[in-house]
Amino acid sequence: MRQKSDDKDTLNRYSDHYSGYAGLPVLVGLHTMSEAKAKGLAVQEVVRRLKRLHWAMKRLHGILVGRIASTSIYEIKMAFSLHAHYCAEHVVGIASRIREMREPPYGLDEAPDAALDLFFDEVWAAPDLESLLLGIYDFAIPGICAGFHALLSDTNRLFDHPTYRIARFASLEFGDSSDYGRKALDCLVPPEKQVAFASWRNLLTDILSVSGGIDGTSPKAQMELTRRYSLTPHSYQGAVRRDERFSDPYNMGVNAEALLFDPTIPPLPKVLMLYFKRMREIDVPEMMSSILSEVEGKPWEYYRDMTRQLWDEARHAMMGELGFVSLGIDWTDIPFNITWSNSLNTQLTPLERHAVLFTIEQGLMPKKNGKENEWEIAVASANKLSSLIQDFDWADEILHARIGRDWLVPQLGSQAATLAFGNVAWSKVLVDWRRWKDEGLTEHRNWWPPIYRAACERWGIEPDSALLAYNTTYENTRPDLKQIAE
Ligand SMILES: [Fe+2]
Ligand SMILES: [Fe+2]
Repeated sequence: MRQKSDDKDTLNRYSDHYSGYAGLPVLVGLHTMSEAKAKGLAVQEVVRRLKRLHWAMKRLHGILVGRIASTSIYEIKMAFSLHAHYCAEHVVGIASRIREMREPPYGLDEAPDAALDLFFDEVWAAPDLESLLLGIYDFAIPGICAGFHALLSDTNRLFDHPTYRIARFASLEFGDSSDYGRKALDCLVPPEKQVAFASWRNLLTDILSVSGGIDGTSPKAQMELTRRYSLTPHSYQGAVRRDERFSDPYNMGVNAEALLFDPTIPPLPKVLMLYFKRMREIDVPEMMSSILSEVEGKPWEYYRDMTRQLWDEARHAMMGELGFVSLGIDWTDIPFNITWSNSLNTQLTPLERHAVLFTIEQGLMPKKNGKENEWEIAVASANKLSSLIQDFDWADEILHARIGRDWLVPQLGSQAATLAFGNVAWSKVLVDWRRWKDEGLTEHRNWWPPIYRAACERWGIEPDSALLAYNTTYENTRPDLKQIAE
């Protein structure tokens, strides 16, 4: 016995002091020899954990995307967009890693554990924002994050390096999401408010303890679980809600494109319309979330691409917000119309919605009044922030047109057929300008003059009287400057 442990000590000392040529780090610095010989999970265990994390991110993606339209707070819509994008991307990475591990791609579309699925059913059905935020940011995301951290510390970086890379990247992004979530909870569901949600938290804690945590590495508790909110399965709600900073949601009183593409108007004031157009894009994630929630049975790459676009559109909205803040302009004085996303979500089929989006985005490609022209206007305005925003907005838009060509055009036959289908669908939801006014939903107030005046003050220039009098609405003209049919 004594001899054996002496041998072991000698061997340990040997690996501890083993060194590469001229002292170079061994194993490319991934592990010391001692770590590498002591550490590691079997392929089967790594696959088991990856399958659970894969499923958890898929379910979480559905919840985040599915609650964008019906959640009123703008910042939370933006956060759900980013965090859904992280889920969608890592689902792809993990699925391909699983396929590399002697594992046929079976079982990726089924819940690996009933309790894990029950957990996400409950969070999806959370009846109010507070319960939803607690479910996502106090349980789901920290749980996924912990699963990646456990994988990182348990797997062998040499044997299982591809998993190590994927888990490392995912743990970074889920770590960021977790930090954001903690701050969001502090603002919206602080500890004193959380007391009222004690039984909800207890239920989620119980479900996860039966499931052995999100990654299934904790001991599994035995207890009877009863569904609470998911007794009747929660269905997708497409009606769009906004927080109280968004007033006059039916207003279509200022036609941004007519000003933007009027060659007689100088570039600088147009920057304001560019910021307005960007921030108005809050309606694109709201609308795309309904497509993602209602289209079933596509390959995951479809959901990944569409979620990437959804997140890009959320970024565009925040770029507009940044523009206004950079000028000291209070954007809450500007009405951001809700009717596009709301009408599309509630009146059109998912295929029609996607075709409308495609038609609009194809319309942004021509040089004369498209994205390139918006960028040229921004450059000509000599406003550096606006130029950068438009530069990336244009790049993103090229990608979005491609996403449409990849996924939508093949379904509708041809580019021309898709545009025709999109045009008809768009006209179905755009003709209510006068009705909204007649019904007292809006006066279509001209919000432009005070905003233009405030910006001129910031720029230290005199407002142009002709521009102050700008008063072109959307009554007869669509945002793509096509006349609305009578
Ligand atoms: Fe956009
Ligand atoms: Fe876009």
